[in-house]
Amino acid sequence: MKLFASLLLCLWMPMALATGMTVPKLDIGKGGQCVEDAQWMRKNHMDLLKHQRDDTVHKGVRNTKHSLKGCIECHASTLDDSVTARADSFCVACHRYESVKIDCFECHSDKRKSAWLQRNAK
Ligand code: HEC
Ligand code: HEC
Ligand code: HEC
Repeated sequence: MKLFASLLLCLWMPMALATGMTVPKLDIGKGGQCVEDAQWMRKNHMDLLKHQRDDTVHKGVRNTKHSLKGCIECHASTLDDSVTARADSFCVACHRYESVKIDCFECHSDKRKSAWLQRNAK
């Protein structure tokens, strides 16, 4: 898993450099494959999330591949199961760097749900 993560980083860093984007240190989480192209996501995740929220809250569409829970399942750190706990946590690192403030986690859990279930399963 560690090896896989560093492999991803090796692939990713040159890409980030190639696009001329300065990026903060980022804990990608579990790995795997993002729901959309990573470069596209970097630019468009906020619109995608808002769209997904409207679909769920206003139209009752749930559990599609763009759900916020899904993002957290993958992107929560393998160290603490969170997307916000540390300075390099996934939903924090870029935002701090760019001075973006989001209030999503005042309501939504920032923790990987499967980890919580595992801990609390008897
Ligand atoms: C005041 C509380 C509150 C805040 C703040 C909030 N949400 Fe939500 N959100 C909800 C509730 C309640 C639902 C409906 C719960 C459900 O149906 O799962 C929801 C549902 C969603 C969904 C669809 C369900 C899912 O898991 O995909 C998305 C996406 C979403 N919110 C994104 C966001 C984003 C992004 C932000 C920050 C910009 C945000 N929310 C801020 C309360 C909030
Ligand atoms: C199945 C696991 C998985 C899911 C689900 C997932 N991602 Fe990803 N995502 C990844 C991986 C792995 C990368 C980085 C690898 C790469 O560059 O292709 C990534 C890259 C990204 C990036 C770009 C980060 C960078 O390096 O610049 C953003 C932003 C992002 N994801 C946001 C999201 C959001 C928002 C959601 C939910 C709508 C989500 N991801 C769902 C695995 C996932
Ligand atoms: C690769 C860097 C990066 C990652 C990782 C990232 N974001 Fe963002 N996010 C940004 C940037 C940059 C902006 C501001 C874009 C703009 O102002 O146009 C932003 C904006 C947002 C906004 C809109 C804020 C607003 O005021 O409109 C939301 C919501 C958001 N991000 C949610 C998330 C969530 C949830 C995660 C974790 C799953 C995440 N982001 C991970 C870079 C990132």
